[in-house]
Amino acid sequence: MRLRLFVLSILVVVSISLSVKTLHAQQEGAPHLEKRGATTQLIVDGKPYLMLAGELFNSSSSSLDYMKPIWPKLAAESLNTVLTPISWELVEPTEGKFDFTLIDGLLAQAREQHLHIVFLWLASWKNGKSSYPPVWVKNDTKRFPRAYENGNPVDILSTFGTSTEEADARAFAAVMQHLREVDSHDHTVLMMQVENEVGILGDTRDHSEVANRAFDSAVPAELTRYLEVHKDSLDPELRELWVANGAKTSGTWSEIFGNTARADEIFMAWHYARYVQAVAAKGKAAYPLPMYVNTWLGGNDATPGNYPSGGPQPRVLDIWKAAGSSIDIIAPDLYAANFAWWANRYHRPDNPLLLPETNGGAAGAANVFYAVGEHAAIGFSPFGIDSDRDTANDLGKSYSVLASITPLILEAQSKAAIHGFLLSEAHPAVEFSLNGYVVHVSLDEIFGHHADRGYGLIMANGPDAFLGAGKGFRVTFTSRSLTTHVGLASVDEGTFEDGKWIPDRRLNGDESDQGTYWRFDPRSTKIEKASVYQFQ
Ligand code: DGJ
Repeated sequence: MRLRLFVLSILVVVSISLSVKTLHAQQEGAPHLEKRGATTQLIVDGKPYLMLAGELFNSSSSSLDYMKPIWPKLAAESLNTVLTPISWELVEPTEGKFDFTLIDGLLAQAREQHLHIVFLWLASWKNGKSSYPPVWVKNDTKRFPRAYENGNPVDILSTFGTSTEEADARAFAAVMQHLREVDSHDHTVLMMQVENEVGILGDTRDHSEVANRAFDSAVPAELTRYLEVHKDSLDPELRELWVANGAKTSGTWSEIFGNTARADEIFMAWHYARYVQAVAAKGKAAYPLPMYVNTWLGGNDATPGNYPSGGPQPRVLDIWKAAGSSIDIIAPDLYAANFAWWANRYHRPDNPLLLPETNGGAAGAANVFYAVGEHAAIGFSPFGIDSDRDTANDLGKSYSVLASITPLILEAQSKAAIHGFLLSEAHPAVEFSLNGYVVHVSLDEIFGHHADRGYGLIMANGPDAFLGAGKGFRVTFTSRSLTTHVGLASVDEGTFEDGKWIPDRRLNGDESDQGTYWRFDPRSTKIEKASVYQFQ
């Protein structure tokens, strides 16, 4: 009997340690971010991955029946990933009792269509407000305090509620633990968005008593130390403000950042960031998927409070970075017309570019080329993807071309051997160095036909060889040496099928103006290869 018990307990120990090992082994393959050469990429099942994604309307994924007909449509639009809201109220309707039925159903539906998911954790805040916490949080203002504006509480959870932070983090950790149990083999879920467009709306900062006390106290040393250590790489607007106030390394918030709404915004950024980083940290301890936050962009002239004050605007991005490292990416919800300008502000060595919300349709079809070509974006995701707004399926056309060359794009990103561009009448030409040549790209123009919009990407494709994709532009090459000329040896159009190049026509006649230009006609989104030669 004793021997039997002994053998049994050995078996139990062995099987537990095996299952822990299996879990760890699977864990090692969990989606993660990795620095590869010149850039940081999302690695899924051991390979770099580009999210050609779309985000659902807020309420679609609260019903499996509602979602049922949507998944196949998304798969048909060449999407590979769907940003899918889940909410604290539906996961934990009663305190301490978790319900993962919806999450499991969404996973099953996505898997059926071979789609990946990024879950959006709608919890303490969504668009600056607090509409997604469960009702047991909403109706307990004592345990879960509200922010104050103009002397009164408002129905927005305060970042100073420690029990709110703990409750949110506990629920998020339960979700992550569940995902570890049900998805660490399939890797359907690639990333998590923590909260949604946080920041306080209606005032520049929380004016509750506890917030006022914190505002009149010393700025935490972690933050001032970060400012000192990173002074040369700080976002220019933050550095300018800090320096204009004497570049102090100790003092209260207004002593260090001045007596304006900007100081209030920085104060709120620190407190939202601390809270959100803490929620993310708890979740990562359960299952360490990459995590990001998204931003309601204010614009330079807007007053904090008209947009959520404390959300990770570019000018407070460093404050968010100083507050912790559990949030891997700070992402812009980029609907603004000056797409390139904003993309540039968010793409930093410590922050890969991710577009979790942006325009789809014709604008998105163009912007995605720029984002992946020029800024090595790891994902692009128009909002409201389950609408029928894009009747011409412009986005789908771009996505299917990009999907067919994704491995080449990812490889070129890591070698910094790719550029993307957006051309318009206001910005008709760009030039860049690539593969030992100067590449001149401009709006397409031939035999009196003129494109008024163009977009695409060009990458190195071997010595003297290039691969391009897009529409409405033309390309010439020059050498840095003034005495060397560069000619087009060949231009071929074609497609990629399962990674194999299937050439179609050779374009050395009228289509390239007799070898003068490498052209991408404005009528369709194409892939072409060009090779060049040099002569004196
Ligand atoms: C930005 C938010 O993050 C989304 O959830 C949604 O509310 C859109 N705005 C609506 O345009």
